[in-house]
Amino acid sequence: LVAGVDSSTQSTKIVVCDAETGQVVRSARAPHPDGTEVHPDRWWEAYEQAAAGGILEGVAAIAVGGQQHGMVTLDDEDTVVRDALLWNDTRSAGAARDLTAELGGAAAWVEAVGSALVPSFTVTKLRWLAEHEPERAARVARVVLPHDWMTGRILQQGNGFERWSTDRGDASGTGYWSAADGDYRLDLLERAFGRVVEVPEVLSPAQRAGRTTGGLLVAAGTGDNMGAALGLTLQPGDVVVSLGTSGTVFTPHRSAIRDESGAIAGFADATGHHLPLMCTLNAARVLTATARMIGVDLAELDRLALQASPGAGGLSLLPYLDGERTPDLPDATGTLAGLTRSNATPENLARAAVEGMLCNLVAGVDALRDKDVEVRRILLIGGAAASRAVREVAPGLFRAPVVVPAPAEYVGVGAARQAAWALSAEPAPPTWDLEIDSEYAVRPGDEQAHADVVARYQALVTRTHGI
Ligand code: XUL
Repeated sequence: LVAGVDSSTQSTKIVVCDAETGQVVRSARAPHPDGTEVHPDRWWEAYEQAAAGGILEGVAAIAVGGQQHGMVTLDDEDTVVRDALLWNDTRSAGAARDLTAELGGAAAWVEAVGSALVPSFTVTKLRWLAEHEPERAARVARVVLPHDWMTGRILQQGNGFERWSTDRGDASGTGYWSAADGDYRLDLLERAFGRVVEVPEVLSPAQRAGRTTGGLLVAAGTGDNMGAALGLTLQPGDVVVSLGTSGTVFTPHRSAIRDESGAIAGFADATGHHLPLMCTLNAARVLTATARMIGVDLAELDRLALQASPGAGGLSLLPYLDGERTPDLPDATGTLAGLTRSNATPENLARAAVEGMLCNLVAGVDALRDKDVEVRRILLIGGAAASRAVREVAPGLFRAPVVVPAPAEYVGVGAARQAAWALSAEPAPPTWDLEIDSEYAVRPGDEQAHADVVARYQALVTRTHGI
């Protein structure tokens, strides 16, 4: 048996799988405080709570998939200096703008590390810390990511800790590690923070981070999106659209992608290749907020959206409820446009929410196409993938067939697959099958209507935000 941990923004989940088949044998989860900053001890407490029922009994190897980018600062005795600032914390927006200008623009960062800087990236959080909390900054001896810290904690608890480590996938979200070169850019860390601090060793995909005295092999772990890619056993041409707390679009790719437009981050993956990815801050919550606004539950929102025609009678919703990361609009708010007395119905509002949430991600799929990345099919995952309206509207908007994998904790499963790989010492991860729940084709009649929806949405983005 092997275990995968999903250390996410809201909870810690543990999934135990059969190492050969990948079949999930058991799983457990425990919540921890949500938000944009949290003490890492809360993640650990949730892990211990999830593990308390004996779920790890008989497990030979474990790996952690964690929320990307979070800044965990440690002093020279490895005590946490301040609450971790997470991927969804936008207080470093000014720092991101300053660092971008200092290096000569977004394209200079794309050239240096593969991605344009947004406030999610660790390097911008380090600049914010140096500027706003100099006393705390002075105590920082090393900086690690959420999955690095959890991996280290598992090893510390099992008396097997030797050094802090990370992997290529998560390192590529720091802003001071280049996915194309496979190396740290400590000059950029120094530029942001004023001095160089210790960073974790970057392990190769099947390398182990260590072993506890009890014999548990602890694999390298990775970022949650890279973990999901492993769990979904992606092939070239598979593009994932994940509709969770964040919205992400990503696909496995053999070579590093550099997108000067800044939409696609040039991340590495957890198999030795690459995972170009776009991330938005507003996905499933757009549906929850709209349902609240209309005064219905999610099932009714779904029903209403399916009753409206494509285009929502002319309504468009820009879903920037929490500001936005792609496009880079940290201070934006949402916009509902095109309201008239005749189209102001709950059905059209529900439909506009589904279309707006998806149109925000169409930009990511199109940015991949612009880079000549094959889009053979869309794999729809995350909480909002349960919505029938979302499933039916998606193929037309994305201009590709949509498959919905059977609901599973794909980050945890992917981390478990990495653990199985590290255990096997084989050159490639074990072959595990993906179970597909349902498939949705592009309906020919909808093509023009959906193209019009996307064009109207894009025109509204330009009109409202000048981009
Ligand atoms: C990706 C990103 C988010 C977090 C969510 O760049 O910031 O998807 O990893 O946990």
